[in-house]
Amino acid sequence: MDSNEFDFEDRIISSGYSAEDADSEPGLRPRSIDEYIGQEKAKEILKIYIDAVKLRGDTLDHVLLYGPPGLGKTTLSAIIASELGVNFRVTSGPAIEKQGDLAALLSNLADGDVLFIDEIHRLSRSIEEILYPAMEDYSLDIIIGKGPAARSIRLPLAKFTLIGATTRAGQLTTPLRDRFGVLLRLELYTPEELASIVRRSAGILDVPIDDDGALEIASRSRGTPRIANRLLKRVRDFAQVKGDGRITCDIARHALETLEIDELGLDNTDRRMLEAIIGYYDGGPVGLETLAATVGEESVTIEDVYEPYLLQLGFLNRTPRGRCVTRAAYEHLGIPYRRAVSESNDGQMKIE
Ligand SMILES: Nc1ncnc2c1ncn2[C@@H]1O[C@H](COP(=O)(O)OP(=O)(O)O)[C@@H](O)[C@H]1O
Ligand SMILES: [Mg+2]
Repeated sequence: MDSNEFDFEDRIISSGYSAEDADSEPGLRPRSIDEYIGQEKAKEILKIYIDAVKLRGDTLDHVLLYGPPGLGKTTLSAIIASELGVNFRVTSGPAIEKQGDLAALLSNLADGDVLFIDEIHRLSRSIEEILYPAMEDYSLDIIIGKGPAARSIRLPLAKFTLIGATTRAGQLTTPLRDRFGVLLRLELYTPEELASIVRRSAGILDVPIDDDGALEIASRSRGTPRIANRLLKRVRDFAQVKGDGRITCDIARHALETLEIDELGLDNTDRRMLEAIIGYYDGGPVGLETLAATVGEESVTIEDVYEPYLLQLGFLNRTPRGRCVTRAAYEHLGIPYRRAVSESNDGQMKIE
């Protein structure tokens, strides 16, 4: 990725995995379902399935976890395997290049094992086809030979569980999506849930923090645990250098203001994106591709990383004709709202 001023990957609030997270993330990752904070609906469903599977001595149905980056899909997948007491094998869509790679992974699984495929929407079509019989009948169809002499043989596989994770469930092909028995969507976390995550992480990192300090970090973390943990580490540095090491509300606020992350968790890039829609397109509608070109970012990143939170805040609307900035966003940015065109409740455009 080229480094321009809109380089989302280097942003402190980017929710994608970065090298910086690598040292401390394993320690912060919850290991059991009870340590996993929030996502009550998903946890409740999973607990029932896991208990039922254990009672019957059966194998868990294939699970698809979807939602924006940093919400805990990988973490939850590992927890499922550990609660089931089975092996957890990890791979990802882009890592599997040849049919043989996946065939080798599948044939090495034991009964009950979990195979986790991250970014499963990025599997190529020909590799996906290996998965269909594997998921459905626990078998591998192998073609031996070439041309007219080629024949297909069917090899049995262990009865395994596939857990797929994706930021874009809509990009999965229908035959693949249909083969998952359990589809779970992870939601953005509330500030209170994130505050619990921040307090838990601070405990592990041995950083003293008070409740207001935790809530201050939480409310600027865009509903995302990965960002909350990252901000906690930045604020810790401020607390050690500027204070006595304890994270209070004042220290957190001072640190995050210095990092230009506002009270809602928006950073310069969010603000520039919203301002671009307002400045160049009179608040919208503007098509995704046009917007991506204007801010110099891939449309995928805008959709996966930016929009979920801006939509949740009600700062952005998706209309049939493109993205629109709402009045609430103008107010947050301190830009007078005087538009000839506004969105009515049903998302249709109308002239005032
Ligand atoms: N429910 C949760 N409770 C506590 N910490 C969490 C939770 N979900 C995620 N985290 C933290 O956020 C980090 C990112 O989660 P991860 O599972 O890698 O997200 P994803 O795979 O969805 O991108 C984890 O390392 C973990 O520390
Ligand atoms: Mg992940």
